[in-house]
Amino acid sequence: MLYAVVASFSLGYTLRAPAPRMEAAASASTDAAFGASHTSMYTDAVAKDSYDTLEEVLAEKMADTELRSVLMTMFNGCGTITEALRKELVTVADKQASVFGDVQLGVDVLADDLMWDICKTEPLIKEGASEEEPEVREMHADGKFCVCWDPLDGSSIVDNNWAVGTILGIWPSSTGILGATGRDQVASLVALYGPRTTVFVTLDDGVYEFTYGANGVDGWLCSRDRVEIAEESKIFAPANMRAAQDLPEYGKLIEYWMTNRYTLRYTGGLVPDICQQFTKRQGVFSNPTSDSSPAKLRLAFEAAPFGLLVEKAGGKTSDGISGNSILDVKITGIDQRTPLCIGSAKEVERFNEVVLQK
Ligand code: F6P
Ligand code: MN
Repeated sequence: MLYAVVASFSLGYTLRAPAPRMEAAASASTDAAFGASHTSMYTDAVAKDSYDTLEEVLAEKMADTELRSVLMTMFNGCGTITEALRKELVTVADKQASVFGDVQLGVDVLADDLMWDICKTEPLIKEGASEEEPEVREMHADGKFCVCWDPLDGSSIVDNNWAVGTILGIWPSSTGILGATGRDQVASLVALYGPRTTVFVTLDDGVYEFTYGANGVDGWLCSRDRVEIAEESKIFAPANMRAAQDLPEYGKLIEYWMTNRYTLRYTGGLVPDICQQFTKRQGVFSNPTSDSSPAKLRLAFEAAPFGLLVEKAGGKTSDGISGNSILDVKITGIDQRTPLCIGSAKEVERFNEVVLQK
């Protein structure tokens, strides 16, 4: 492919992009013909005559029958949270129980209580841990799996009626959660509550998307299978831009994305900001940290489950420190925080080169 140098910075790092002048010329003529509508990417999904159900796909693509049953229970939980979000007004919870100082909303408590109820009634679950509380609790001594959840990510945007989500990581009881890494997970699952509810889940041979209550079906239909994230991306989701005040290299990376006419797709909700990578089949979510803008994302509740999903879909992750995969970071504390970059492989490599200088 033809490459052109587009910017050179004092760090000595030269940023290169696929022939941007030619692209710029091409996009200028398209702009003239159609307005700038081509900067948006639309779906290429075509309606199918029939869709497989969750039960059918799990029977074929999840060999471990016990894990299959736990996943089924979790999907049901996400269905219940969907219904609750449709009906509940967003108000602060009567009792503020978060030890992390986060404001708890009625919907946070509702989703969390539901997750605890699921763990109590599912004998396969040995340990449970919620982002709302800093401890791993034993549920059933002879259970097979340990589950970590963020019941409702996006508390600061749910009042806007923007998309929010549930994030779940499942570890085998042989490793547990503390002392394990994200790579030890046997599965992870993320529910995205938008106009529709979609769940992205790791099955034996890749990442699948299921949609709740679509096409008049009561339950989950498989709406995408074996999702793949391309190496390159033209969209970007730059979180924690405050950190660019301390890290000029982060400012330079953002400048690179702008100079090269990438399209900004960022909501401030981790779930929609990363899940777009599964539907657009590309993307990068960057969240470096600095002394005055410290890490906010939780390793066990957020970064590790997303890391498994994105890497299983062919994407890449960076722990934001060594540049290695987030899946290799040891979980030493349940509330451990981490920087993160995740998405299309080439963009994560660019983050490592520009921001971490690796
Ligand atoms: O749980 C962390 C989170 O709410 C993510 O969903 C989101 O990416 C991030 O915080 C947004 O942080 P801020 O509100 O500081 O921009
Ligand atoms: Mn969260």
